Formats: sequence, structure tokens, C-alpha cells
Amino acid sequence: MLASRSGRDGRSASNRLSSAPITISALAIALTLLAPAFAAGADEVHPLRLCADPTNLPFSSDNPATPGLYLEVGQALGKALGRPVVYDWYKSYFGKRTVRVTLLGKQCDAMVGLTPSTDFMGPAVIFSKPILKEGYALVTAKGRKIASLADLKPLRVAVQYQSTPQNLLAQRDEIQKVTVLSPDEGMKALDQGKADVAFIWGPVAGWLNKTEYGGKYDIQSVEGEGLLWPVAIGFAKASTELRDQVDAVLPQVEALLPELSAKYGLPADTPVKLTALQRPLVRLAAADVPAPQVVVDAGAPQPPLTAAIIKSRANDSEAVTSGRETFNGTCAHCHGPDAVQSERHIDLRRLKLKYADDVRDVYWKTVHQGRPAKGMPAWKEVFDDKQLDDVYAYLMTVQTPGN
Ligand code: HEC
Repeated sequence: MLASRSGRDGRSASNRLSSAPITISALAIALTLLAPAFAAGADEVHPLRLCADPTNLPFSSDNPATPGLYLEVGQALGKALGRPVVYDWYKSYFGKRTVRVTLLGKQCDAMVGLTPSTDFMGPAVIFSKPILKEGYALVTAKGRKIASLADLKPLRVAVQYQSTPQNLLAQRDEIQKVTVLSPDEGMKALDQGKADVAFIWGPVAGWLNKTEYGGKYDIQSVEGEGLLWPVAIGFAKASTELRDQVDAVLPQVEALLPELSAKYGLPADTPVKLTALQRPLVRLAAADVPAPQVVVDAGAPQPPLTAAIIKSRANDSEAVTSGRETFNGTCAHCHGPDAVQSERHIDLRRLKLKYADDVRDVYWKTVHQGRPAKGMPAWKEVFDDKQLDDVYAYLMTVQTPGN
């Protein structure tokens, strides 16, 4: 989980991106010039460079008064390792993309707050031991205990669009859902009496409860498939030495966690186990962010992964498989998982119908340059042409017939 409150700052991430090569080459030149001077002190202490989002409380912020839990963990790590800490600021956008650009782009050494899983960018990222668990929580008026899904029955429950709680409750008609786009909106719905319970992302609920609502709500953590996950520190694959050093000093850092969790309002209760999902969810990315960037159609049903679909994928070429992975990890946030999208103008299954022989040209131009004014980012700095070609190969396998 790359914790982000909303991911709404994508535009600045891409601006940052386009200026990055200049910074790097300038730095490279400076380092080359300085090299002889440095060569003398081989033991010189290198700062620990952390990637951090400046606007992602309770986790990180560039406000020194409230640096956030992850930054304070980073500071403690730096101290334990005897290295000063410096930050590479980025704005959370899409999990994998951010990691590719920052951690794997060698702009920083470590990133606090990633979910250690093998399906998160495969072997490119390695992890420390988990430091925390984060997940969804039920926010209620004080004293209202919810021990099972059945307790939600007579209640109006605010759920985040495209979140595990929304999926979990989707098939339970007896529970009234109020769809919200962010934890902030969920808390507001509760506060304005539009919902009785907010089933939203716990850390942000806790932070808002503490800072904006004077602690007036109870926050009950939950566990179950896709509801609670471990969080660790991520490193690029080659950094095994640093990872091992971090693991070795981790107990010192962990000792600070109860105090830090309290400071930032993170739920620290024992999670209640909720009934497992009725059908497995198609997971887009381990880093899935609770609130999507663009809301297209909150009512659009997600297609189940049927046996026929799974079988039909068995013969996919490597390009199509890798294209689907890129698509579902990045593009699906706006264009829908597996390109299933009910809003026509961003339904990429209609590309061929729409553009016929020009489809490839339109695709390349659009993905390379984006249509920034219309909300479609440019991707040429993020993915290489092979990757974009694979996405194209994948999209061609899902085109709506009729042309
Ligand atoms: C932040 C949301 C967002 C993301 C992420 C995104 N797109 Fe888009 N995309 C849009 C929007 C909005 C449009 C429609 C722009 C318009 O109105 O012209 C669009 C349009 C397109 C089009 C042209 C569609 C047409 O009918 O003309 C293509 C092709 C496309 N996107 C491909 C991609 C690919 C491939 C990715 C992933 C690498 C991606 N998009 C990621 C928002 C997004």
C-alpha cells in the first residue's frame, strides 16, 4: 500500500517528472567535478534519501510541525543508522508509477509505507520486515459497537468508491450504501447525518477524527481479505545491504511506533474480523489507493473473473500479458479494470470502432503526449515504447466487435 489520501495531485507529479532528467544530469556533472575531492574520505557518511509525499498526512508532510508517521520513522531510522536524512518529495499518484519513478529511478534509497508483496512490481522492489498494519475501519458514534456485517443491517454505511468495503457490501442489499470518494467525504457524510457508519480507510479516518472532529467518533479496525495489510519499507532490488542494515535497527524504530501512532491518530485497537468476500476481487495493484482520480460511473458493475475469461487468457502472448498488467496497474484507475468502462468516451474497447485504420496513430499520439487539458496524462516519461506497445497489444484483444 502506498498510502495516499486521494492521489489528486497527479499533474504536478508529471511536471516534476519532465524536469527530473535536467536535475540528474546537473548533479552528475557536479559529482564528476567533485569526485577527486571526495575520493579522499571513503568513509564519508552518505545521507539516507527517502522518497516522501509532502501532502499525505497522517503519513508524511513537508510541514516540520507535523512531519507524519512515515517521516518520523525515517528520521528514527537515519538516527539508528548514523546517517542524516534527506527527502525526495513526490506527490502520490499511482502506486507503481511513483515507485518506478522514484525508488527504481534511484532518486531515493528507501520508501516507507509499501506493502511487502511479491505482486507489487515483482522482484524489482525488496522490503524490510513489516513495521505496521494498516487497513479499513468502521467509524461510528461513540459506543456503537459493530462486531459483524449483520450489525450493519439497519444502518446507512458510507463506503469509498471502488474500495474493498464497497465490494464487500455490494451484494448485501439489506445494507444501505452511501458512496463517497474519499475518507474525508466519508467522515463528512457521517458528521452531516447522511450515514450512520463510515467504512473507510482507517489511518486517514483516525487522523481526521483527531484533528478535525475532536475525537468524537469511535474507530473500529477490521480485518479480512483486502481489509488489512502489513506495511514495510521498500528498497530497490540492488539495495540488499541497506535493507539488512535497516532490518537490524528496526526494533529501535518499532519501539517508537505506539507513541507515533497515538500522535497521528492511527487506530491501535484490535481489528474485528469481518466475513470473507463472497468472490475474489480482481486486485489492480497492491498499492491501490482508496479514492480514484476520476469517477466515471459509481454504479458500473465489475465483471467477475469467470472460468471462460481465465481460460481465454491462457493463450495470451507475453506482450498481451505484460500489457494487461501495465494497464490494470496504471490505466485502469481511469479506464476501468480490464478496460471495462461504461462511460463511452473513455471506454478503450471502442478505440477500433471509433478510429478504424487510424487507431494505432491515435493511440500513440494520445499515450505519448496525453491530453492534459482533458485529464489524460502523458505517459512517455513513465513507460518505454515496448511497454506502451504491450498495452496496445492488450487493448487490441478487448476491442468491441463491429468493425
Ligand atoms: C487520470 C486518468 C487517466 C489515466 C490514468 C489514463 N487515462 Fe487515458 N484518458 C483519460 C481521459 C479523461 C481520456 C479522454 C480524453 C478526452 O476527452 O479526449 C483518456 C483518453 C485516452 C485515450 C484516447 C481515447 C479516445 O477514445 O480517443 C487512450 C488511447 C488512452 N486514454 C490510453 C490510456 C492508457 C494506455 C493509459 C495507461 C498507460 C491511460 N490512458 C491512463 C484519463 C486517463
